[in-house]
Amino acid sequence: MQVFREKQPLIQAIQKIKSEGKSIGLVPTMGALHEGHLSLVKNAQKDSDQVVVSIFVNPTQFDNPEDLEKYPRNLEKDLELLENELSNIWVFTPTANELYGETISSQNFDFEGLESVMEGEYRTGHFDGVGTVVKHLFEAVTPDKAFFGEKDFQQLQIIRKLTEKTGLPVEIIGCPILREESGLARSSRNERLSSQNRKEAAFIYETLKDANQLFGTESADYVVNWVENKFQNNQFLKLEYFEIADSETLKKINQKEKGKQYRAFIAAYADDIRLIDNIALDN
Ligand code: PAJ
Repeated sequence: MQVFREKQPLIQAIQKIKSEGKSIGLVPTMGALHEGHLSLVKNAQKDSDQVVVSIFVNPTQFDNPEDLEKYPRNLEKDLELLENELSNIWVFTPTANELYGETISSQNFDFEGLESVMEGEYRTGHFDGVGTVVKHLFEAVTPDKAFFGEKDFQQLQIIRKLTEKTGLPVEIIGCPILREESGLARSSRNERLSSQNRKEAAFIYETLKDANQLFGTESADYVVNWVENKFQNNQFLKLEYFEIADSETLKKINQKEKGKQYRAFIAAYADDIRLIDNIALDN
């Protein structure tokens, strides 16, 4: 495993790989790695000759300074995990100035409405920050393919739109959500849950699966009301939003249309810890 803290040596190493006709796969992360991240890296290894994992806690995507400060950082442990589990990885872990240059700020993007719903509605400026950092990473690493988790499905669609709009020649690969045994989607935030809340949080995926069943016969409005009621009776979790949307445009659905794909999206709090999840509605 090779660790690059600076762009220039990485760019040179990548140029050499490319001159040999080999392909580059990028897995962008903010560290605090877990099995979910590793599954992305494994997918990337299957699909590319050289995998680059970036570890960078991106300041511009946090709307709340306290959240940024509290974000778990443990580079040593992350490197150990990558080294133990996987072979031949390059890790890119730049400082903010190294990646951004002198001015660390977000560009404003028009993602055609994808950025203003759900996570975008509740986390102002979040997707401008994500778009900016991913664009910088794509420009530095010039990957042939980049791997993102469906755990953050809205982010995945935004990155697809980013590449479409910027014309950057990278193929975006969406990877399935990895879950704990209870069904709770894996996340670095799960470590901060109390043991009781960690058990109770399985309710989120249980509810998504029930919603998927119900959506087979009922309208979106009916399912949304049903989920909201279920959460009202749950003393451990506080629902922030539950939405059923078109998988492509992320617009809330009015009426089911044949041939369209839909997803249910959820954000809920367990104490002060915000959890998100989603499911394809395929019933
Ligand atoms: P981070 O939260 O570290 O996630 C890195 C990647 O891992 C994302 O593509 C995310 O969707 C994926 N991931 C996280 N948990 C997963 C799970 N349980 N199953 C499958 N994939 C999972 O997302 C970010 O970082 C940042 O916004 C980033 C794209 C790196 C830009 O800063």
